[in-house]
Amino acid sequence: MRIGILGTGTLAAALAESWARAGHDIEVGGRSPEKALAIAEKVGGHAAHPREVVRDKDSVLLAVSWSGIEDMLRSAGATEGALRGTPVIDPTNAVEHGVGVLLAETSAAERVAELAPGAHVVKAFHLFAADQWTRPDASPVTVAMCGDAPEAVRVACGLVRDAGGNPAVLGPLSRARQLEEAAGFVIGLAFSGFDPNSAVPRVGS
Ligand SMILES: NC(=O)c1ccc[n+]([C@@H]2O[C@H](COP(=O)([O-])OP(=O)(O)OC[C@H]3O[C@@H](n4cnc5c(N)ncnc54)[C@H](OP(=O)(O)O)[C@@H]3O)[C@@H](O)[C@H]2O)c1
Repeated sequence: MRIGILGTGTLAAALAESWARAGHDIEVGGRSPEKALAIAEKVGGHAAHPREVVRDKDSVLLAVSWSGIEDMLRSAGATEGALRGTPVIDPTNAVEHGVGVLLAETSAAERVAELAPGAHVVKAFHLFAADQWTRPDASPVTVAMCGDAPEAVRVACGLVRDAGGNPAVLGPLSRARQLEEAAGFVIGLAFSGFDPNSAVPRVGS
């Protein structure tokens, strides 16, 4: 698949590496062309302006800090419809750093959908640390996700599998707030010195 990655930070680099290893074509762009080029060179992909990154892609990952979402979507032309019909994976955590309280009134994913008219937004990849997708010794994990457009959800499930995860689709994009609260819960416990794994019941499968 042709995958566009908006953002040039830790998660962008990790998923670019993982998906390139799975055989996908990666094009990456952000506000720093130098950082985009560094990721592209590392994974054998391309670097481009965000407007190019979203053009003619099978899927686009929005790997940007919550505070930069609107700027990035504007710079990519997504606020004018450049992502219409494109599966867009939203891994963002709009949480207060070190506390875990959600900052946005709606879910981050639904805000992305508002900002990018016509984009087929899927919430995914927001719960595990970026190195989950690149560590050779990482155990497989379940990736809870949600979205409204069946084809976009199918594409995102494939990308979860390609990164070494097991997709678990919980419903439409209106479930995103719950999935984002789960990340806030985990972050809040971890920063308070508790092991989040010990804070949920072991439920028989
Ligand atoms: N890292 C993880 O383990 C992880 C796991 C799950 C979810 N996430 C989520 O994934 C997203 C990215 O996380 P990250 O760890 O990769 O963050 P990061 O390393 O801090 O990178 C943040 C990216 O956002 C860009 N950015 C920030 N403000 C911007 C603006 N106003 N306009 C354009 N670009 C802007 C940064 O650009 P510059 O480099 O130019 O500053 C950088 O490319 C976040 O929403 C985070 O909550 C991260």
